[in-house]
Amino acid sequence: MEKERRKQQGKGEANIGEEIITLENVCKAYATGAPALNGVNIHIKRGEFVFVVGDSGSGKSTLIKLLLRELTPTSGTINVLGYDLVRIRHGRIPKFRRNLGIVFQDFRLLKDRNVYENVAFAQRIIQVSSKEIKRNVPSILATVGLAGKYKAKPRQLSGGE
Ligand SMILES: Nc1ncnc2c1ncn2[C@@H]1O[C@H](COP(=O)(O)OP(=O)(O)OP(=O)(O)O)[C@@H](O)[C@H]1O
Ligand SMILES: [Mg+2]
Repeated sequence: MEKERRKQQGKGEANIGEEIITLENVCKAYATGAPALNGVNIHIKRGEFVFVVGDSGSGKSTLIKLLLRELTPTSGTINVLGYDLVRIRHGRIPKFRRNLGIVFQDFRLLKDRNVYENVAFAQRIIQVSSKEIKRNVPSILATVGLAGKYKAKPRQLSGGE
């Protein structure tokens, strides 16, 4: 059992009910000001639905950036899907991030590509085949009500779109 669990470490896999996000005693201090996070402990299991709420400046974005490995903690340990995010080698970060689905506040769309191409691009990165992309993208766009705008460029869309 233990051997099986270890085999899965760092492979982006987890069993139902298994802890997939663990923060132990995490502190994050920026160069200036008081620490953004101080002694944070979080345990989240697969399938749990979690909201992070707090005042402006309380450290929510800092926490998310730590989970994406955009930042490293000043001290403490962070484990996501078996990846030790303090020790992970740089070359493995892209592979780790392919396990995450993220909707950014600042969009991060490719400005020179239309809606269809932006969605298709994200699928290509996670190695979906061209055939499947052709099948997936229209239904993805229909799900979010953007089927009629597949040719629009990001600048032609509203914030919510
Ligand atoms: N790059 C940085 N350098 C220095 N201080 C920073 C940096 N980023 C954030 N901070 C500070 O860290 C604290 C937490 O910021 P953070 O962005 O995590 O807050 P937040 O909870 O996401 O706030 P909001 O609800 O306004 O988005 C704040 O005091 C902020 O000023
Ligand atoms: Mg924020």
